[in-house]
Amino acid sequence: MTITFKSAADIDGMRLAGRLASEVLDMLTPHVKPGVTTNWLDQLAHDHIVNVQHGTPAPLNYAPPGYTPYPKSICTSINHQICHGIPNDRALKSGDIVNIDVTVIKDGWHGDTSRMFVVGEGSIAAKRLCRMTYEAMWRGIARVRPGARLGDIGHTIQTFAEGNGFSVVREFCGHGIGRKFHEEPQVLHYGKPGTLDELVPGMVFTIEPMINAGKRDIREAGDGWTIVTKDRSLSAQWEHTVLVTETGYEVLTVSADSPPPALAGA
Ligand code: MF3
Ligand code: CO
Ligand code: CO
Repeated sequence: MTITFKSAADIDGMRLAGRLASEVLDMLTPHVKPGVTTNWLDQLAHDHIVNVQHGTPAPLNYAPPGYTPYPKSICTSINHQICHGIPNDRALKSGDIVNIDVTVIKDGWHGDTSRMFVVGEGSIAAKRLCRMTYEAMWRGIARVRPGARLGDIGHTIQTFAEGNGFSVVREFCGHGIGRKFHEEPQVLHYGKPGTLDELVPGMVFTIEPMINAGKRDIREAGDGWTIVTKDRSLSAQWEHTVLVTETGYEVLTVSADSPPPALAGA
């Protein structure tokens, strides 16, 4: 497998898939509150993608080599869960932080995006982790332009996160995306400037840093999917799907509630 480069027509398809994925998060936002189960959020997302958007939730039955088919339509990762949390019948409670990760397939193209939500009243520490992870993602995105290298993105994210006393998860990374959910290249959220692949217009990949309040070490929770922090510290993640343009980047997973780059980190 090699990196695929997207044509103008391909990019139109990916813009639509990206916007739809982001709009699912917009739709879910008012529902993320104490007492709501992640299964309910999953059902809302599933029905919206299938019945309103006429798309397909990419996670449902997704089964990469070595994995059992993923049983739900979104990922919901709460508190010390890093990623791939499976929606269930437990209710969210005030103070929880939850990452909701949505991937929509539309006309064969994938759009992949996730956001953090603070349920009810969050602690200062939890809110700071979510805000800093958001800023880490945007600092990585801001590096994207032709001639830059993947290592520049990773280095920027790592330097910012570790400089603020957090750690970066290394076992999971961003990824090329297009007709397939996960394509080359891998987009590490740590690294050295000037290393790894050079960015070329037409490349599309996700940037999705997972940042821990404690140590970076991970553990698999036992359901075959959910990844948690080994030290049970809080973890946060944000994700956008990004196109390399002739002059810089275009974020494809944008929508009414997903602020443009000018407001990033504000
Ligand atoms: N959306 C995740 C990512 O950003 C992948 C989830 S795979 C699933 O790459 F099967 F857990 F949904
Ligand atoms: Co992704
Ligand atoms: Co995702």
